[in-house]
Amino acid sequence: MTFQPYLEAISKQIQHTAYGEEPAELYEPIRYIMSLGGKRLRPLLTVLSANLFINDWQKALKPAIAVEVFHNFTLMHDDIMDCAPLRRGKPTVHEKWNANTAILSGDVMLVNAYELLLDVAPAQLPRVIRRFNRTAAEVCEGQQLDMNFEKRADVSQEEYIGMIRLKTSVLLGFAMELGGMIAGADEATTQLLYDAGVNMGLGFQLKDDLLDVYGDPEKFGKQVGGDIIANKKTFMLIEALLLAEGKTKDDLNNWLSLEQGTYDTSDKVAAVTEIYTQLGLDTLAQTMADAYFSKGFEALENLPLPVERKKPLIEFAEFLVGRES
Ligand code: IPE
Ligand code: IPE
Ligand code: MG
Ligand code: MG
Ligand code: MG
Repeated sequence: MTFQPYLEAISKQIQHTAYGEEPAELYEPIRYIMSLGGKRLRPLLTVLSANLFINDWQKALKPAIAVEVFHNFTLMHDDIMDCAPLRRGKPTVHEKWNANTAILSGDVMLVNAYELLLDVAPAQLPRVIRRFNRTAAEVCEGQQLDMNFEKRADVSQEEYIGMIRLKTSVLLGFAMELGGMIAGADEATTQLLYDAGVNMGLGFQLKDDLLDVYGDPEKFGKQVGGDIIANKKTFMLIEALLLAEGKTKDDLNNWLSLEQGTYDTSDKVAAVTEIYTQLGLDTLAQTMADAYFSKGFEALENLPLPVERKKPLIEFAEFLVGRES
């Protein structure tokens, strides 16, 4: 895999990043979540995007870690919001410690992310911060919509795509744009990188929603069925609400209307999964994800750069398409 050396450099940089020491209760959860691994896809996108234009991609390492720290901060808070027990195969921070700890450690991670971004050359810093701020606000907007949609039954596919664009895709777009900005690429090119990242991000979240239902718990590292339990309006649930008829429709609506605590969650997960499968939504969701990934690839292929130069980024994007974790 041509992206392996970049991943190793990122892991090393993460190991050497200092988040703070005292009080230990504040900083220990940060070291915990940052050391659990994960795919490191956002910093990889930053570094691999910088590498499209410059040989000293190491210059992008610290800002790349800023994006990963920001991502992990959103995960810490997201896991509270989603009542998620597991992350990367280990207890979530609010389960291992408590919700207040996860809130406060998450808050300081956002500060850490800004600190790491300061590594960008002074001439580029205002633009980088402006773009980062916009992205971070959009992630929060997407997260709020995600929660609003849990309570609604009439969410459209268009609204769903808008919501995942905000909560997930813009950060992948920014990660790529950041690599371009650090490497001094012109605005048209950084915009192209951003658009490629956003499209891959849409494919990525569609796939995440698919794995949340059909993933292998060992590989996925998160609770399978969490989205079904929380009535998350995923592509599959929205489509099921449109396609189901007769008894299937009644059953689905019934599961959605039950108050949490009044039923066995594994029964709900099994029943709703069965409905998705019957309706062929696993295949349909995969097709949708692939279509967005293809758009992202197309943009990368159109970048006027030598094929060799683009190889690590394209190989990494291909790995993402086939991911199971
Ligand atoms: C999880 O992101 C949150 C989503 C946007 C789906 P990742 O799947 O990138 O999580 P890690 O960092 O690899 O664990
Ligand atoms: C999370 O989406 C997006 C952000 C963290 C901003 P999910 O809630 O689907 O992510 P996972 O599945 O918990 O990783
Ligand atoms: Mg969530
Ligand atoms: Mg979640
Ligand atoms: Mg998910």
